[in-house]
Amino acid sequence: MLWVVHRKSFGYIPASGDSAGLLPRIREFVMRLAGKVAIITGAGRGIGQATAVKFAKEGAVVAVCDVDTKTAEDTARMIEAMGGKAMAFAVNVTDTSSIKAMVSEVYERCGKIDVLVNNAGIVADAQLKNMTEDQFDRVIDINLKGTYNCTKAVVDIMLEQQSGVILNASSIVGLSGNFGQTNYAASKFGVIGMVKTWARELGKRGIRANAVCPGFVATTIIDNIPDKVIQSLEAKVPLGRLAQPEEIANVYAFLASDEASYINGAVIEVSGGLTL
Ligand SMILES: NC(=O)c1ccc[n+]([C@@H]2O[C@H](COP(=O)([O-])OP(=O)(O)OC[C@H]3O[C@@H](n4cnc5c(N)ncnc54)[C@H](O)[C@@H]3O)[C@@H](O)[C@H]2O)c1
Repeated sequence: MLWVVHRKSFGYIPASGDSAGLLPRIREFVMRLAGKVAIITGAGRGIGQATAVKFAKEGAVVAVCDVDTKTAEDTARMIEAMGGKAMAFAVNVTDTSSIKAMVSEVYERCGKIDVLVNNAGIVADAQLKNMTEDQFDRVIDINLKGTYNCTKAVVDIMLEQQSGVILNASSIVGLSGNFGQTNYAASKFGVIGMVKTWARELGKRGIRANAVCPGFVATTIIDNIPDKVIQSLEAKVPLGRLAQPEEIANVYAFLASDEASYINGAVIEVSGGLTL
């Protein structure tokens, strides 16, 4: 087989004969996140896990963070089994000491932090009249303050580097509210507010911040929604189905890449057209 690739930064590639080591280098050439270091929270399952796997396939070194240590380790092992690079961390996004320890270790080992994906999130639904203070506080602490905590922990490094990408899980519920989700809607509207603020504050320093608003995605977070409701939701989506986690991961990968270099402060809906 004859491979000829022209690109200065790619170095010397033999045009024929011994191609040992060539394919991995070709693969790296087309990987959109090659050489990047990414931290992803809530990466033990669901959208976070799919994003960690996608980032690793695109060449990133991934710090897989989750409050559930075992699932973080499972994701990291999955990535390593594919030939990717990952580190697992037990991180609770409400616990600043666990975040700081993880950020220090990633920085020590990799020398930089290119991307943070604030993905960890929960629901604790109830109509306003039944919602408890604990339900409200838990969702705000994880979804909103957790996003703030993790971003605060990496921002000095990104400012020093004069580069970075901060991606944040909002939701279509953060655009239009939802029945039974006072707490979740407040947290996801809040994420969009922080993203727009960070995009203004940090843009001139080489740091981009964006929000992603999925519609309904087939993960355990929607396990409590009755089948009947899921079916009626699917019927409302112009694409006629829920999203798969990988379809959200693809958007994060694009936003993390240099291909998205002019996208800052954007709120990107990935809902199959549900809100049309
Ligand atoms: N699934 C959907 O339909 C949907 C739609 C819109 C937005 N989102 C958002 O996408 C994100 C991921 O959702 P998902 O569907 O993959 O959920 P999921 O429940 O499948 O996964 C969430 C992950 O976050 C972790 N997590 C929870 N609390 C944490 C904490 N305090 N610290 C660290 N990790 C923690 C969990 O252990 C889990 O691994 C969430 O922010 C969610 O709000 C999901």
